Amino acid sequence: MKYNVAVIPGDGIGPEVIEETIKVLKIIGEKFGHRFDYEYVLAGGCAIDKEGTPLPEETLEICKKSDAVLLGAVGGPKWDDPTAKIRPEQALLGLRGALNLYCNLRPAVLYAPLKNESPLKDSIVKDGIDICIVRELTGGIYFGERGLETVDGVKSAYDTERYNVKEITRIAKIGFETAMKRNKKLTSVDKANILESSRLWRSVVNDMAKDYPEVEVNHLYVDNAAMQLVKDPNQFDVIVTSNIFGDILSDEASMVTGSIGMLPSASLGEGTLGMYEPIHGSAPDIAGKGIANPLATILSAAMMLRYSFSLDEEAKVIENAVLAVLEDGYRTGDIMTEGKKKVGTVEMGKLVCKKIEA
Ligand code: IPM
Ligand code: MN
Repeated sequence: MKYNVAVIPGDGIGPEVIEETIKVLKIIGEKFGHRFDYEYVLAGGCAIDKEGTPLPEETLEICKKSDAVLLGAVGGPKWDDPTAKIRPEQALLGLRGALNLYCNLRPAVLYAPLKNESPLKDSIVKDGIDICIVRELTGGIYFGERGLETVDGVKSAYDTERYNVKEITRIAKIGFETAMKRNKKLTSVDKANILESSRLWRSVVNDMAKDYPEVEVNHLYVDNAAMQLVKDPNQFDVIVTSNIFGDILSDEASMVTGSIGMLPSASLGEGTLGMYEPIHGSAPDIAGKGIANPLATILSAAMMLRYSFSLDEEAKVIENAVLAVLEDGYRTGDIMTEGKKKVGTVEMGKLVCKKIEA
């Protein structure tokens, strides 16, 4: 089969980690007889510099007609002024909105060989951590009405958290279905003691629970969920939550696994078109040095194979190769510990390729 992939290397370490990922996909293509065609497009800070906008029309058009979008990272200190009208992050929100990618899957996995990377005690981590965060991605306060105005002579600003039943239902459905494929436990996170939108969220989840009798459902307030994630992360299987709570909790979960450089993500919509990216940022401090960890992007490509192309076996082959390389003791700087073998971005990519070829 032939697949068209729009590639957004982006800024900072983005291009470096994307390059290794493309090499991994090449090996997969050869081994399994698939063809991946790439169209490289601009988005983020580099697009602001070249085109004056973080998400050029051409980029969006190419992404729309592709089978999947693979993204490195966007942003950097050069464009970091939060008061600027034009910012790299607008590329992400623009792509999510325009492609209707309302579901963000963020698996937070602590692989056994990396157990020591977690800042949590062994007694808490036990044999590792495996949580899947399902974050709503095109609604809530990140997309709601906002404004800046002067009220009674005082400058004021507002943002709006708003969800309708349809939006909650479609993301909750993914939460339930993800739980069905895993350990059948779903935690819905909200702030229903305060927020009206959360009360609606909770009631929709409860209504849907009747259709999934096998799934054990519980609800946590977001503040408590933040605490439980460090107190006992293994109580979680699947977490479903709003855009803003998912943003915050997924960063926390990534820290719990000790290695933000390891975590992939998938942004999905109604069809098979999805966008795949590591959850780490552009890491401008280490960009161009050849030391970035490419594994989160490589694992994102595995998610692309699984969710956009239904190539489950191929996805598993990549994931197993990553695990095998870690078991062999190879580490990039971000996950390095004493006694392990330190490698750079390119070498890490090569090691994964070799495992797949073997
Ligand atoms: C993320 C990022 C983005 C978000 C920003 C850069 C817009 O933090 O993907 O989690 O908040 O969604
Ligand atoms: Mn975030």
